[in-house]
Amino acid sequence: MSGHDKKLFVKTYGCQMNVYDSERMTSALAGRGYVTTDTPDDADLILLNTCHIREKAAEKVYSEIGRLKPLKADRPDLRIGIAGCVAQAEGEVILDRAPAVDLVVGPQSYHRLPEMLDRMARGERPLETDFPVEDKFDHLPAVKRGRRAPSAFLTVQEGCDKFCAFCVVPYTRGAEASRPADQVMREARDMVAQGVVEVTLLGQNVNAYRDADGVTLAQLVRRLAEIDGLDRIRYTTSHPNDMDADLISAHAEVPALMPYLHLPVQAGSDRVLKGMNRKHTAAEYVALIERVRTARPDIALSGDFIVGFPGETEEDFQATLDLIAAVNYAQAYSFVYSPRPGTPAAGRSFVAPEVASERLQRLQALLTEQQYAFQSAMIGRVLPVLLEKPGRLPGQMVGKSPYLHAVHLDAGADMTGRIVDVSITATGRNTLSGVLV
Ligand code: SAH
Ligand code: SF4
Ligand code: F3S
Repeated sequence: MSGHDKKLFVKTYGCQMNVYDSERMTSALAGRGYVTTDTPDDADLILLNTCHIREKAAEKVYSEIGRLKPLKADRPDLRIGIAGCVAQAEGEVILDRAPAVDLVVGPQSYHRLPEMLDRMARGERPLETDFPVEDKFDHLPAVKRGRRAPSAFLTVQEGCDKFCAFCVVPYTRGAEASRPADQVMREARDMVAQGVVEVTLLGQNVNAYRDADGVTLAQLVRRLAEIDGLDRIRYTTSHPNDMDADLISAHAEVPALMPYLHLPVQAGSDRVLKGMNRKHTAAEYVALIERVRTARPDIALSGDFIVGFPGETEEDFQATLDLIAAVNYAQAYSFVYSPRPGTPAAGRSFVAPEVASERLQRLQALLTEQQYAFQSAMIGRVLPVLLEKPGRLPGQMVGKSPYLHAVHLDAGADMTGRIVDVSITATGRNTLSGVLV
């Protein structure tokens, strides 16, 4: 190999799985002599790991390519690659629409990257968007770094068979597939050896996890909890229909499993849920939440909501507000419906944008109120906080509560990676503050 390292700049959009994939791609390219840089200005290779979930997310990619183009005029050797869900969804179209792009790779083909670099060096513009039969994680090197941040993502499941009428994920990530539990255990142990104390298991439908030997997510969680030094386990994102009794019990029985559940429902009207192809009713969802709360009364609940789905009336929207009032969320994400090409709902007549954004405001006002109430209820309590990184002020550290709150405190020293008891004294909009006890 040549004597000097080449520089790689990766920009990650979208969900946590993209964050994890970017790390794995970075390790794969490290094997090819690439070191990471935090600016595109001195990069030899720029990779945009993209998201296709809403129109805005997808369009961001083209504006970013437009911003990067002048760099290429100055440095003809610079190469630009597009990875992620836009790459998968648009493929060839990107190469046609953006001549500055040299490579396009979909999420199931990342193990092909090194070979694609060779093709690029020969002057090709390689495109890989097949769904290969082999498991990319068998071929991608593990993330190797001396010391890692205390909290890490670990993809255990990928893809989706649910086909919600609004969603591109089944098309961009492919069919549901679960990594073998042994492989996950190995990776988790390696992470712990590198200083990780909290692992968030990732999957588009993580609770549908079932490996070839029939190991379920609940069983995987119980096995992971046995790893010495792995103090905290989380998982995201779950689908209501895959929330089985054993997983609910795990929330009561496994202390390392954090009291937090992200369980999107999208809407509270059965008519809209049917149009969305969610395959459950609002009442079934609320009943499920009750079972989860029986197992773990203090659990923090989080959700995703879409307003302005085709056909949504004011009455339907009210049903969503009613559901939110009934569940009482600790935190939530909400979006105006964005029609996505190729999805079943794309052709349906949609709600006027000003009506949809007005509904979003009302919905977010309610969710913000609930979030603030949940945070305020923490004041005066002592919470175990995982210290993740130094804060902005000297001596300050930022950590995470079991309920996924960011917590600021004066630690006096860098105690990254430790779990300490913190007495919560105040809440801001999105963060708590407290003092060491
Ligand atoms: N697998 C996860 C994540 C899907 S994407 C899940 O099932 O929840 C994250 C969220 O984006 C979804 O839950 C949904 O609320 C939102 N979303 C997906 N497609 C959308 C669209 N076309 N318009 C608006 N929001 C969308
Ligand atoms: Fe998309 Fe629905 Fe699958 Fe979630 S469950 S990834 S919203 S199709
Ligand atoms: Fe976006 Fe793909 Fe994740 S569309 S949300 S990056 S699965």
